[in-house]
Amino acid sequence: MTLDREPRILLGVTGSIAAFKSPDLVRELRDRGTDVAVVMTEAAAKFVGPVTLETMSGNPVGIDLFDPRGAAALPHWLAGTPASRQPYHLALAECADLIVVAPATASTMAKAAHGIADNLLTTTLLGTTRPIAFAPAMNTKMWTHPATVANVRILKERRHHVIEPDTGKMAWDTEGEGAGRFPEPADLAAEVWRILGTHRQLEGVKVVVSAGGTEEPVDAVRVLTNRSSGKMGAELAEEARSRGAEVVLVAGGMRVPPPAGVRVVGAKTAAAMRDAMIEESKGAGIVVMAAAVADWRPVDPSPRKVKKAERPAIELESTDDILLLLKKAAKDSFRVGFALETEDALENGRTKLRQKGVDLLVVNDASQPGAGFEVDTNRVTLLSRDDREVALPLLPKREVAARIIDRIVELRDGD
Ligand SMILES: Cc1cc2nc3c(=O)[nH]c(=O)nc-3n(C[C@H](O)[C@H](O)[C@H](O)COP(=O)(O)O)c2cc1C
Repeated sequence: MTLDREPRILLGVTGSIAAFKSPDLVRELRDRGTDVAVVMTEAAAKFVGPVTLETMSGNPVGIDLFDPRGAAALPHWLAGTPASRQPYHLALAECADLIVVAPATASTMAKAAHGIADNLLTTTLLGTTRPIAFAPAMNTKMWTHPATVANVRILKERRHHVIEPDTGKMAWDTEGEGAGRFPEPADLAAEVWRILGTHRQLEGVKVVVSAGGTEEPVDAVRVLTNRSSGKMGAELAEEARSRGAEVVLVAGGMRVPPPAGVRVVGAKTAAAMRDAMIEESKGAGIVVMAAAVADWRPVDPSPRKVKKAERPAIELESTDDILLLLKKAAKDSFRVGFALETEDALENGRTKLRQKGVDLLVVNDASQPGAGFEVDTNRVTLLSRDDREVALPLLPKREVAARIIDRIVELRDGD
């Protein structure tokens, strides 16, 4: 953790019977050196007293979205800051390094999944760009209900953390051994601390990611392009941002929206992408070339629309090899390349790793089902300079992105 102050956590407590453990959780988190402020739902206040949480956290506890206390209701670290003049929920939304909802009821998770903002906590959750971790607690029937299962899936797809509940004895649970039990506060605090660390891994690091397919003009209206959707690059950009990086997304033609919180530089052609990557990689700690750049472009694109009857023969010329150029232009950055292969994927990948001088090559065997363009999953192998291979199973692109960033962090840290 590279913070020059104590990490800050906003703890959302909801109306589960397990809320009685939340004062202990606050103590465990504070023992680890985190500043904690608590927001609770009205239901939670039936299970644990706000005064207890106020005393344990050393901060005012928020329940009411329309709290008349004004700035006096805010965590002490916001005192006198510009943020303290914002509406209550917006000041809280960005006040912490991590928001932890623990215990998280089925109801609050359902609201968070569907954007319902009907109390201070759910409104804060909707207004934040900070990472959120949910620690569900409920009886096994609620936890395994298809509605809860679907809501948890939505939360995970949005990159929120969902800490798996324990199995074991719960209040009035006659079966006794199902899943849904709130973890012990010390274990939960350790998990929260780990999540907090992940979100600081790339703090202060500039990360440049290219994404999407380039478009090479044939004439005034037609382009040569490829089937890249830009999803893999967008996921990588979002993952890097979620770990604290300052992210620049150099975007070719994208079929998915760019993630929030990243700076987008449009670069539709291979030449524009080359220039943008060279320019943006100045001062970058990590450069990832995930875009599908055209290998050839029409030599002489027509400035007008070519008539149908003209049926032109299109002469092509090679474009620049951007990865190769980055070997010099971004020589101090950790460089990551992608290789989409349909034959002898690993062998070709090893050659490419050496030729392009990258630190990590993500080899994508497009002949495998579920891998490559236009799908939400990918199956890749990560090749590094030390000839180590990490073969990942078929995973959603979001998880592939997380594993790639994990590997980058490991290699940069000298593993
Ligand atoms: C005694 C009691 C215990 C409860 N325990 C839980 C629980 O562990 N998990 C849960 O999801 N809901 C539990 N509920 C139901 C919630 O309190 C209820 O859904 C409430 O509306 C949740 O509101 P909130 O999410 O705004 O806090 C319990 C209710 C009662 C009366």
